[in-house]
Amino acid sequence: MATQEETFKKIVAHCKEYGFVFPSSEIYDGLGAVYDYGQNGVELKNNIKQYWWQSMTLLHENIVGIDASIFMHPTTWKASGHVDAFNDPLIDNKDSKKRYRADVLIEDQLGKIEEKIQKEVDKAKKRFGESFDEAMFRQTNPRVLEYQAKWDNLHERYSKAMNDMDLEALKQIILDEEIVCPISGTRNWTDVRQFNLMFATEMGSTADGTMKIYLRPETAQGIFVNFLNVQKTGRMKIPFGIAQIGKAFRNEIVARQFVFRMREFEQMEMQFFVRPGEEMQWFEHWKQFRMKWHKALGLGDEKYRYHDHEKLAHYANAATDIEFLMPFGFKEVEGIHSRTDFDLSQHAKFSGKKIEYFDPDLNKSYTPYVIETSIGVDRMFLSIMCSAYKEEQLEGGDVRVVLNLPAVLAPVKACVMPLVKKDGLPEKAREVMDLLKFDFKTTYDEKDSIGKRYRRQDAIGTPFCITVDHDTLNDNAVTVRYRDTMTQDRVKIEDLHDLIAKAVDMKHLFRKIVAE
Ligand code: GAP
Repeated sequence: MATQEETFKKIVAHCKEYGFVFPSSEIYDGLGAVYDYGQNGVELKNNIKQYWWQSMTLLHENIVGIDASIFMHPTTWKASGHVDAFNDPLIDNKDSKKRYRADVLIEDQLGKIEEKIQKEVDKAKKRFGESFDEAMFRQTNPRVLEYQAKWDNLHERYSKAMNDMDLEALKQIILDEEIVCPISGTRNWTDVRQFNLMFATEMGSTADGTMKIYLRPETAQGIFVNFLNVQKTGRMKIPFGIAQIGKAFRNEIVARQFVFRMREFEQMEMQFFVRPGEEMQWFEHWKQFRMKWHKALGLGDEKYRYHDHEKLAHYANAATDIEFLMPFGFKEVEGIHSRTDFDLSQHAKFSGKKIEYFDPDLNKSYTPYVIETSIGVDRMFLSIMCSAYKEEQLEGGDVRVVLNLPAVLAPVKACVMPLVKKDGLPEKAREVMDLLKFDFKTTYDEKDSIGKRYRRQDAIGTPFCITVDHDTLNDNAVTVRYRDTMTQDRVKIEDLHDLIAKAVDMKHLFRKIVAE
């Protein structure tokens, strides 16, 4: 049985081998934490974006989209607080010269204690079988209680240090916990320092005088600075939302776990503007809605959980993460934040413009409050790949690698294959493709045995393989082979379109989301 770490390595290798994700500028040995999406990756990514975009703009008549620039006036970032407060606490190991995030070192330590507790639980579960009462065991087992007390104590110290941004306290925790550098194995640490995550560049030529500008670290600010433009031109009434998908850039100190933490990544953000005082009920609403969006994909409800924030960002009065069970544990995929009126007020202050909304129902003006839903496309991509990747033991000892992707997101929906490369079968197969290609991403494959062709499609998660054989020429029917069950059906060519549409139409997911 492969460990989770081995499985993750296999997923990363699979992403490269099958054209999902490549290291950026690989011929020059790549660039740290920057990746390119290949021919299959980009299709999957586009499908994820479409699922998100349509769930916002089709399911909500009061949500509209925008596409703001990556470059923004530099004062934007002064106003938003990013110039002063978008920092990570970093620490260097003097022996290995490696740099770490102090908070990540401590969180890993917390994770190690959690793993110890889980090991005790798993051992007991094996021992007691059916009659095992996990909740009772966690409350009474002395070893678990000891670990739990250790965790509570460390967590309390850590939360306080982070809330106060007390860099000395963070270092003291690292020393007290005897955390060592994974490379050098020593505890020879520097002091903890603050490091701003924004990338800066210059705009304009030297003759005109240059201006230092930043690559946006979040897409949200492009929405805030356009609040009045959209509200006025769209005659939007509060509550309403503005959605956006776009690139964001962060000079992450510790970039790791493949596309989980990148320096250039993509966000799907929606800012929902509400009346002051109503933000908590909308916060709850969006928490529920976003979880339904995730679960509708059918990756397994048990793979999701909320994680409420104790340390709130400088702009928030409530925040929660939606976490997904990756091979390296539950990890944040999406954040839902109640951002108060912080951003609009700050932009009003720094720009000198009045940014308010006149509420005709209340007959007064106010600065709207904001609930934000913010999800990383790349993390969503990774969570889907991790849950889809399967190695199946087949009869006869064969192993098949298959991606059980939700059919709506699969990069290729159908592959059409003539059984042999002669007797008019390729021409007939092309006719079948022509029937499907305007609605579904369809490919054609005539090379190698049918078995090998099935495996190639399994590896990229194609839900339908359609084989054209000699009988097709007489009965106008084809063999459809289903990815997940590997079963086969004889289907009339005229019925193929409906069969595929039923499985890949996003409408079915949208109905699930709004039904509950
Ligand atoms: N506007 C709010 C905001 O940016 P965030 O929690 O910093 O909040 C939101 O980021 C989401 O963006 C995260 O939940 C994650 O999915 C994604 N994200 C953030 N940093 C990332 C990185 N370095 N690489 C990939 N995705 C990232």
